[in-house]
Amino acid sequence: MIALDLPADGSLRAAHRIVEEVDGDGVAAWLALGESALPEAASKPRHLKQMPSFPGDLLDPAQSHGDLLLQITGVSAQAVRDAADHALRKLSQWRVRWRLDGVRPENRTENGKGLARNPFHFTEGYGNPAAPAGVAERATITRDQGEPSWAVGGSYQVIRVIRLATDFWDRDTVHEQERIVGRGRDGRWLDGTPGTEQPVFAADPQGKITPLDAHVRRAAPDRRNPPPLVRRGYNYHHSDDDQGLVFSCFQSDLTKGFEAVQHRLQGEAMAKYTLTVGGGYFFVPPPGENWLQALA
Ligand code: HEM
Repeated sequence: MIALDLPADGSLRAAHRIVEEVDGDGVAAWLALGESALPEAASKPRHLKQMPSFPGDLLDPAQSHGDLLLQITGVSAQAVRDAADHALRKLSQWRVRWRLDGVRPENRTENGKGLARNPFHFTEGYGNPAAPAGVAERATITRDQGEPSWAVGGSYQVIRVIRLATDFWDRDTVHEQERIVGRGRDGRWLDGTPGTEQPVFAADPQGKITPLDAHVRRAAPDRRNPPPLVRRGYNYHHSDDDQGLVFSCFQSDLTKGFEAVQHRLQGEAMAKYTLTVGGGYFFVPPPGENWLQALA
C-alpha cells in the first residue's frame, strides 16, 4: 500500500495508465483518490474528506493521508514488490508519502469469506458477507445515493494503520482475549453458537457471556442489521515494538459504514491494546475511464 502526493504537473490519467499496466500479471492493483487529489471545480463524492483524528488516535503525518493510494495485492510477495517497483519507477515524479507492506497469514476462503489470522492470533473476516452480491451491496455506490454520476460504481476505502501492543496482549490468557474480542480465536461465539450462525446478544443483556464492551458486540450489536462495510486487514511488522494491522474497509456510505462503527467502538475493551497512528479516507473510482473525464 503506497500513498503518493501529486506533483504540480502530475496527472491522474498517467497514474491510472500505469496502474492498469501493472494490474493482472499475478497481482491486482488499483488506485484510490484522496480528497486533496480532486480538482477544486470537480463535483466530489459527498463524504470524501481528510480522515479526522478520532479520540485516542495519534496520527503521524508521515503515515497519514495522501493524494493517491496505490494498492497492489497478490499471493507472491516478490510479484507484489516487482509491480510496486515498476509503478514507482514510472511515477518517479510523484512523492511517496508513506508505504506499508502487509501480509495475510493463513489467507484462505471459507464459505465464500476471505479469512486470515491477525497479529492477536484471531481469525478475521467472518463478519463479512459471503456472496459477491452481498459485498457489492455494502461497498458499491448506486444511483440513488445522491453522489456525482461519475462516482456511481465506486467505493469509499478507509485505511487505519493500527499499532498493536502484542506483548501486552500475549500476557493475557486466551480466555481473557476471547472476552475482549467477543468471539473465539476460530470464530466460535462465546455462547456456543457456531461461528457461521448468529448469537443472541439479547439473551445476555448484562454481558455475562459476551461482555458489553467486547469488540464484535460494539461493532455489530444488531445481528439482523450488520454494519454496511466490508473489511480486509493486512498484518505489518516493522519491529517488535511497531507492528499491527493495516485495517482496510470498503463501503458505499462512509457515515453509515466505517464512521458509525468507529464511534461505537469507542471505549471498547480492546482499545488499551491498540493505537491508530495513520491511514486515510480514499475513494476508489468505478471501473473504466469516465471518471477521468469528469475530473479533467
Ligand atoms: C484494532 C484492530 C482490530 C482488530 C485486531 C480487529 C479484530 C476483529 C476480529 C477478530 C473480529 C471477529 C472476526 C470477524 O468477524 O472478522 C472482528 C470483527 C469486526 N470488526 Fe474488527 N478489529 C480491529 C479493528 C476494527 C475497526 C477499526 C473496525 C471498524 C471501525 C472494525 C470493525 C469490525 C466489524 C464490523 C466486525 C464484524 C462484527 C460482526 O459482524 O460480528 N474492527 N474484528
